[in-house]
Amino acid sequence: MEILHTVAELRQWSRQERNDGGYTIGVVPTMGALHAGHASLIRAARASVGFVAVSIFVNPTQFGPNEDYARYPRTFEADCALAEAEGADVVFAPSVGELYPAGAATFVEVEGPSSRLDGASRPGHFRGVATVVAKLLIATEADRAFFGQKDAAQVAVLRRMVADLRLPAEIVVCPIVREPDGLALSSRNAYLSPSERIQALTLSRAIRQAEVLVAAGERRSSALVEAARQIFAAESTVRKDYIELVDWATLLPVETAAPGTLFAVAAWVGATRLIDNAVIT
Ligand code: PAF
Repeated sequence: MEILHTVAELRQWSRQERNDGGYTIGVVPTMGALHAGHASLIRAARASVGFVAVSIFVNPTQFGPNEDYARYPRTFEADCALAEAEGADVVFAPSVGELYPAGAATFVEVEGPSSRLDGASRPGHFRGVATVVAKLLIATEADRAFFGQKDAAQVAVLRRMVADLRLPAEIVVCPIVREPDGLALSSRNAYLSPSERIQALTLSRAIRQAEVLVAAGERRSSALVEAARQIFAAESTVRKDYIELVDWATLLPVETAAPGTLFAVAAWVGATRLIDNAVIT
């Protein structure tokens, strides 16, 4: 496995693999601190394309001024070992200056979904995500890009961006990977103290409750949201951010659960903001 640091090197590799090897190109964008959820994305890419690039870049533009950019976990050597074990061909680890050259003034703004859910709580977040993912898709000339369903609002923003910019990449969404007790895997779980780790289960419990109600025939958004709200209310140390049933494309609220709608929650557990969701089937 090669480790590359510049866009020029990455593009050269990708073009060579496509032209000489006849391979399709896949990219797995990450911010590092890789866990089993990322491993599942790399495996999905490995099974689906001929050349797999994993990017590791803690993207400054998607963090607000008081967020965790400086303390975001950075575990580069372990990340490279995991990427290689899962079959990545290349790790792309650019510097900030490589992706945002001096004077950088070009950003991708996906109006609509970017101001919903996490975008409402984290102004500017999805502008940063869309900008860096556009750069990665352009640099790799990827046929497919792999993302986790846990970041479902991010998926909605990126699908819109790829459609609007007519980028040739297909967005592939892989299922949420959970701990045995239900907690959705997240690099930010590393911030949780042992007691917060237990409190964090409130999110997956709320999601599970909504799924149980839907399976029993409940379709009203108000009933699903209220059931989840009661689960949050029982755990006073967890501060709810949002509980919503939305259209997965627009992220706008819907009244009725239907196949493809998204039930999503976000909450603060201590100083850590966590998210979870389920897509209604
Ligand atoms: O999901 C993430 O880890 C990040 O938002 C992404 C897509 C790698 C962009 O920095």
